[in-house]
Amino acid sequence: MDQAAFSFSVKPLSAHTGAEIHGIDLSRPIDETTRAGLDQAFIDHSVLAIRGQTLSAPQFLEAMKVFGDIFPQHNSRFALPECPAIHYISNQDKTEDGKVFIPGEGYHTDHSNDEVPPKATALHAVKLPNTGGDTQFVNMVEAYDALPETTKKRIGGLQAKHVYQSKYSQRKLPKLPGEKKKIETGAVLHPLVRTHPRSGRKAIYINPIRIEEIVGLSEQEALPLLDELLEHATQEKFQYRHKWHSGDVVIWDNRCLLHKANGDYPVAEVRYLYRLMLKGERPV
Ligand code: SIN
Repeated sequence: MDQAAFSFSVKPLSAHTGAEIHGIDLSRPIDETTRAGLDQAFIDHSVLAIRGQTLSAPQFLEAMKVFGDIFPQHNSRFALPECPAIHYISNQDKTEDGKVFIPGEGYHTDHSNDEVPPKATALHAVKLPNTGGDTQFVNMVEAYDALPETTKKRIGGLQAKHVYQSKYSQRKLPKLPGEKKKIETGAVLHPLVRTHPRSGRKAIYINPIRIEEIVGLSEQEALPLLDELLEHATQEKFQYRHKWHSGDVVIWDNRCLLHKANGDYPVAEVRYLYRLMLKGERPV
């Protein structure tokens, strides 16, 4: 797309994933040309880091509607009382057994146990540690393209069963004090390879915490296959590691990425971000 048409700049952050956007104030109304340009940049780069924003929760909510409709969150535990459509990410909560809770550690894609999972997740940095706390992404389209043809054929028609928490998940979703009940949404089937509705490119669609079965495969066949796909996809060459800047709004495409948080900073340093998700399409 011709960048000269826009008032903002787009600078790629890696060879395949991520771009930083300068020259936009998301607290102000966005015109249609700018909206279309941002939307295309999002499809082209899968992660956008829109720099230099200072948004209240309601302003963040309003601004992200530029990219789509808000996805209602499954768990109200993290909702901001003053703006419940926005949740928070914080390193200051403790699990029931008193351990520091870092939400989102371990590669995953958001809410794949939903029939129609969110297409995107967005965070806005409110307070960051001095170092560390990067968000890591892997590009599942690049990972798919690099698979051997035999593996592409093998996984092409397969469907996986996604649940809230797979019994095979190495990362258990912890219960926090005051949390009334576990979120159970039943099981849904999604293809192991999905086609991005906008780019038309195929992506591996796996989620280590949620996939409990591959339809038609035994446990002995399914688990090594999932491990092999995860190991392949999380190689460094498919990664983009986002180093947060104060004021970043980061939005990413759950349809073609896995992501994870890093808890590699002193716990006394607060890391606090606003978070929301955007409605997507049924994976096909
Ligand atoms: C998430 O998984 O949504 C959290 C990512 C992060 O905190 O870096």
